[in-house]
Amino acid sequence: MGCIRLQEIWIELGQGRRYPVVVGTGHLLELGTWLAERLTGQCLLVTNATLRRLYGGDLKSSLQARGWQVNAIQVPDGEEAKTLAQAGLLYDYMLAEGFDRDSLVIALGGGVVGDLAGFVAGTFMRGIPFIQVPTSLLAQVDASIGGKTAVNHRLGKNLVGIFHQPRAVWTDVNTLATLPEREFISGLAEVIKHGVIDADYFALLEATWPNLLARDPATLVQVIAGSVRIKGKIVAADEREAGQRALLNLGHTIGHALEAASNYRYSHGEAVAIGLVGAGLLACRLGLWSAVDHERTCALLRAVGLPIIAHDISAQDVLCYMAHDKKARADGARFVLPVRLGEVKCGLTVPVDMICDALAALGAV
Ligand SMILES: NC(=O)c1ccc[n+]([C@@H]2O[C@H](COP(=O)([O-])OP(=O)(O)OC[C@H]3O[C@@H](n4cnc5c(N)ncnc54)[C@H](O)[C@@H]3O)[C@@H](O)[C@H]2O)c1
Repeated sequence: MGCIRLQEIWIELGQGRRYPVVVGTGHLLELGTWLAERLTGQCLLVTNATLRRLYGGDLKSSLQARGWQVNAIQVPDGEEAKTLAQAGLLYDYMLAEGFDRDSLVIALGGGVVGDLAGFVAGTFMRGIPFIQVPTSLLAQVDASIGGKTAVNHRLGKNLVGIFHQPRAVWTDVNTLATLPEREFISGLAEVIKHGVIDADYFALLEATWPNLLARDPATLVQVIAGSVRIKGKIVAADEREAGQRALLNLGHTIGHALEAASNYRYSHGEAVAIGLVGAGLLACRLGLWSAVDHERTCALLRAVGLPIIAHDISAQDVLCYMAHDKKARADGARFVLPVRLGEVKCGLTVPVDMICDALAALGAV
């Protein structure tokens, strides 16, 4: 293949079900060659206007050169694309264009495109194959792995969805060169979360963050492949989120509430970064997590430019959003908390007054 570096990580789902995540630099247009050896026919390339302009045209031509009949379709940018109405438009289009059970869906974009296209692929004619081509850091380290797909409902995000595993995840880190800075840094929150789950990976991040911020391709491959391995192992052991997968919610209990309480002024990644600090503060207060590990985590978040303190946030609003969360209980809320770098525990109930103290320490008033 014509790329500089390539790592192939297999997500093993059991009973012979597995898919590769191919992480490298400059192999985007090799997807057609890889596919031609495995599948043939008609494919729907789902993307948005930005990604279509940057990479969609070349990807489409390279697929056509390998014998694919490609229909490219553009969906709106942002969360507004993740609706049942938008999924309906894609079904209409596929039926009009003669798509059938042997057709393929390719998602070229961030987590929004991946979630929508995966949902459509999983439901069209009871499920057809799909390939993730993630182009945002968040999608490369998180959203493209694990087979969760969904659209939003007016009552909340990701409320209508299915598990539908991709046939492959094709991750060319060179696409990150065009990702806006704030999106890139937001994606690093999930990367650092994986570091709290795996101590060796945390040490790698401490050693490489300046190169990572500079988007050095070799560092990106190493770090993204590392995240894929960590998330991949967890989701493979718990495909349908019955247990262990909850570890990945580290930082998300406060993070989700903060994101909503800020009226989405904080991006998901920024809110998760503050949520990671919040989880650390709670774990310190419960005597689970050392001040040294907490400070290392805060230092890494700060170093990459993520917030560790919330500004202009009402603690009461955060508590209200947490109360709506399915993990909330009358006597407190259930958290995933760090125990030490490399060990995280699920299902720990934290009393409300301790949560209030932590929110005050995070800057919420
Ligand atoms: N399925 C899962 O397991 C899972 C996990 C986490 C998040 N998600 C979902 O992912 C979504 C968020 O994903 P996201 O952060 O990637 O957001 P996104 O898909 O909206 O992408 C962020 C922005 O970056 C742009 N972009 C993406 N790649 C680019 C590139 N290479 N160059 C230039 N611009 C680029 C997009 O057009 C968009 O404007 C949410 O809907 C969330 O619910 C799903």
